[in-house]
Amino acid sequence: MNQEFPEYPDMTRLIGLLILAGMTPLAVFARTASYPPPVLARHAMVVTAERQATRVGLAVLRSGGNAVDAAVAVGYALAVTDPCCGNLGGGGFMIYRPAHGAARFLDFREVAPQAATPDLYLNRKGEPIPGLSLYSWKAIGVPGTVAGLEEARRLWGTWPRARLLAPAIRLARLGFVLSPDDAKLLAGDARRLAQDPYAVRIFFSHGRPLGAGALLRQPTLAKTLARIARGGARAFYEGPIARAIVKASRRHGGILSLADFLDYRPVVTRPLRCRYRGVEVLTAPPPGGGATLCEMLDILRGYPLGRYGFHSALSVHFITEAMRWAYADRNTFLGDPAFVRMPLRRLLSQAYARSIRKRIAPRRATPSADVRPGITLDHEGHDTTQYSIVDRFGNAVSVTYTLNTFFGTGFMAPHTGFFLNNEMDDFTTAPDHPNAYGLVQGPVNAIAPGKRPLSSMTPTIVTRKGRLFIVTGSPGGSTITTTVLQVILNLVDYHLGASAAVDAPRFHMQWQPDVIYYEPGAFSKRTMDQLRDWGYRFRAGSPWGSRSWGDAESVIVTPSGWLEGVNDLRYPAGLALGD
Ligand code: DON
Repeated sequence: MNQEFPEYPDMTRLIGLLILAGMTPLAVFARTASYPPPVLARHAMVVTAERQATRVGLAVLRSGGNAVDAAVAVGYALAVTDPCCGNLGGGGFMIYRPAHGAARFLDFREVAPQAATPDLYLNRKGEPIPGLSLYSWKAIGVPGTVAGLEEARRLWGTWPRARLLAPAIRLARLGFVLSPDDAKLLAGDARRLAQDPYAVRIFFSHGRPLGAGALLRQPTLAKTLARIARGGARAFYEGPIARAIVKASRRHGGILSLADFLDYRPVVTRPLRCRYRGVEVLTAPPPGGGATLCEMLDILRGYPLGRYGFHSALSVHFITEAMRWAYADRNTFLGDPAFVRMPLRRLLSQAYARSIRKRIAPRRATPSADVRPGITLDHEGHDTTQYSIVDRFGNAVSVTYTLNTFFGTGFMAPHTGFFLNNEMDDFTTAPDHPNAYGLVQGPVNAIAPGKRPLSSMTPTIVTRKGRLFIVTGSPGGSTITTTVLQVILNLVDYHLGASAAVDAPRFHMQWQPDVIYYEPGAFSKRTMDQLRDWGYRFRAGSPWGSRSWGDAESVIVTPSGWLEGVNDLRYPAGLALGD
């Protein structure tokens, strides 16, 4: 699809003038188009994909809680108000940058159960059994969310647990009115959710999914949250909640055991760091997506993207090539650092970036087959959520957490009220077999008991001259890392405003398949024609609002210290609120 930029007053004349001035029309469009302005605040900001959760976060900050307190309260609130994506039954990553002291990475990714084996999803002939790693009780990794939120609170929070869970309990108990967007999500997955009797009790009425305007009350979830408020992570991992999940898993052919829950531990490490044109990027090390982000940035620092112009053919060419090479490396070399040795130092060395740049022709696409073999992308629904928080003390938190695809497996254990993830599909489930996001991964990401599946999630904090600059991240499966990349490039190279940096249409390449995915309106016809001449092929992605392209819910700090909160236009259900 060749969509030109949208209507703009007196377009022809304006474009003519801009071209004379040496500026690409699309660059100027992205800079000036009528994206809603960011929310401006002096002291604190919360941006999430769901407005009630944003309000919960801001209330915590206003009452004296810090960014981690707010992040914990938001994490629990989203589990209630955004059940497709917020969760208790999944896992994720947090980057925490305190105003003073060292930044930290908290990994609360799900792990493979002890009984998991590399051939868990294969039949006797060694072929993958369709759907098993996504929509069966065997697809469930040991959840990490509750352990992660509790660990964050214990290490860096200041409020007692019960106070942070109170808003989520209230929202679950009293209920809230579903927006048209909420209802659309439920309707989209209704057939799958209808297979779980406990989900039906909560989300259906008279055999149909609840519609816009209906009151969604979740009393069972309220009880689960109240249990966690009283007993903390132990209530989840050692008490009746774990027992209910294990019992249901056994009954339905799953492999989860009580020992899996007892053994679960979040991991606290240092974020991965890389430098790019005067900014420092703090991001998620493996099993997160930050190594891929840093590799792309390392390759791109060799090209004057700003001079080439926003979404000019040359810019898109070099960015696409960086994506191609970095994703080939991701899928071949990356996995859980507790289990595999990764050549990270080499992958993130300037010498390696230089050697890749040498192989990138100035005006020709590198066929992916010449980089490494792979197969096709087949996009499933998406089910992850991102939120970014800055408090009045200058602490910043970026969280991405997920059930994997929408509503995860779609299964609930009795008397728990929350969905269980299908994160096991992020492992290499069979040789040459793409996961839900079309990623064809290698043996280093093979299933092993207690191992974390490789993830694309890339919560990221960027600083400039030692001061906070960007807090960002995104859902979107394999497109997560390229989304974060483009938010950074839009701000650092193209100097777009905060809203345009987040909202401007994006593109994505992941080595295999050998195509550029793009959002409607991403490229001018001229750019696309040029790129086709250089050997690129394109595939139009789904439109905005379909929740297929990730929402980079972000906070950007201006040089004079103003906080700009941007709720991604793609997710109008979200909200940025500041103080
Ligand atoms: O960890 C990962 O890479 C995936 N499980 C994330 C899934 C996702 O982002 C779905 N999102 N919209």
